[in-house]
Amino acid sequence: NQAEAPRLTVIGTGYLGATHAICMAVLGFEVLGVDVDERKIGKLASGEVPFFEPGLPELLAKALESGRLRFTTSFEEAGEFGDVHFICVGTPQQPGSDAADLTYVDAAVRALAPHLNRRALVVGKSTVPVGTAKRLTGIVHELAPAGTEVELAWNPEFLREGFAVDDTMRPDRLVFGVASDWALERLQAAFRPVLDLGTPVVRTDLATAELVKVAANSFLATKISYINAMAEVCEAVGADIKDLADSLALDDRIGGKFLKPGLGFGGGCLPKDIRAFAHRAEEIGVGQAVSFLREVDDINRRRRARTVDLVREMLGGISGKRIAAWGAAFKPNSDDIRDAPALDVARTMHGLGGHVRVFDPAALDNARRAFPELRYGESAFDVAQDADVVVLLTEWSEFREIEPDALAEVVRHKRIVDGRHALDAARWRAAGWEYRALGRS
Ligand code: UGA
Repeated sequence: NQAEAPRLTVIGTGYLGATHAICMAVLGFEVLGVDVDERKIGKLASGEVPFFEPGLPELLAKALESGRLRFTTSFEEAGEFGDVHFICVGTPQQPGSDAADLTYVDAAVRALAPHLNRRALVVGKSTVPVGTAKRLTGIVHELAPAGTEVELAWNPEFLREGFAVDDTMRPDRLVFGVASDWALERLQAAFRPVLDLGTPVVRTDLATAELVKVAANSFLATKISYINAMAEVCEAVGADIKDLADSLALDDRIGGKFLKPGLGFGGGCLPKDIRAFAHRAEEIGVGQAVSFLREVDDINRRRRARTVDLVREMLGGISGKRIAAWGAAFKPNSDDIRDAPALDVARTMHGLGGHVRVFDPAALDNARRAFPELRYGESAFDVAQDADVVVLLTEWSEFREIEPDALAEVVRHKRIVDGRHALDAARWRAAGWEYRALGRS
């Protein structure tokens, strides 16, 4: 019965998929989470969220208790169960290339399609190069059992790590890329509780829906690199990027969001998405239109090198110096270390012979596993013991709250580099610290 709430499957239970599955079950849908990774499925089924995300473990418990959320590794079961199937698998950067790796998306669709034994909608949520949805439509039609009417739609996801629950339950907008009214109706039914909040919807075609996502991430990355480019200019003339950014932010048309200067962007999305977009644009003959994204990437990479330079300048060399590195995650409220600027800087300083010790409130285990060559400590104060310099690399609030006088008790030299413009410079200077930040004299 099409009028009833559709039963949902969520294929791929990583960051995006797990969040989507859990939130949808909490909103009242019957949901089946599907993944080829038995360990992940086992953890989720037993109530454990395999990554750090505020609020999500509580919601998983609630969803499991309601009986509306289950997990499986069987695509046959998925086909049997679902009316609407969300594809939420990852699209990482291909090793040695800027292109997105579509192996997982293709595999998910190929595994699911033969089991679609009744009218169903397959909805892509993964971030993909434009044109992928059209290609996947062909695969779905080819592999679905003869006689079943199956359609593909695209519904890009804009959730941020650290705010994943809120962004899923109360998104700014929903984009529905559809090829028919039926697909639109199915999507509306699958998002009914979210739509009832008055969430704006854009109905569009598949290609536009795919593009919205990469265009949004590219815009955000560009905004960050723009302010960091201004920081480079400020450094050359002794001007102050903080005051400059604050002044720009007061213009409503510009706005202060994603205008925070510092070490730049990292993570599993922005860096790989701008590269994949530039690559895809070149493939389809419009490379020139987004060639500036190469520059955005370069500016962003330079910030990491420049942060190391600042430490070097301050210490008169890095080799043999004791360096406290605060932060490993690519941003606060996350344990994600994918393309993390903080760890990039820490590793470079380590490579230059610095005695670097890293602390992060959530990402320590991940960092240890990925970079066992680095040294780690158990707290911000622990790694600052006898340090020649403290370098703040991820702006966790616990670092902001540290008292300059208390920290002065444990370090060897009162020197701090604020890689994220997170600290009150005047306060640290008043306490006798040599305070430096990119783009500030
Ligand atoms: C980003 C987008 O913001 C989401 O909308 C999108 O859904 C997601 O990618 C995705 O494609 O899945 P996320 O990677 O979680 O979300 O992180 P952001 O909050 O966007 O931060 C990205 C990076 O930019 C971080 O390293 C952060 O430190 C840096 N940043 C952010 C700055 O350097 N300056 C700023 O002003 C803002």
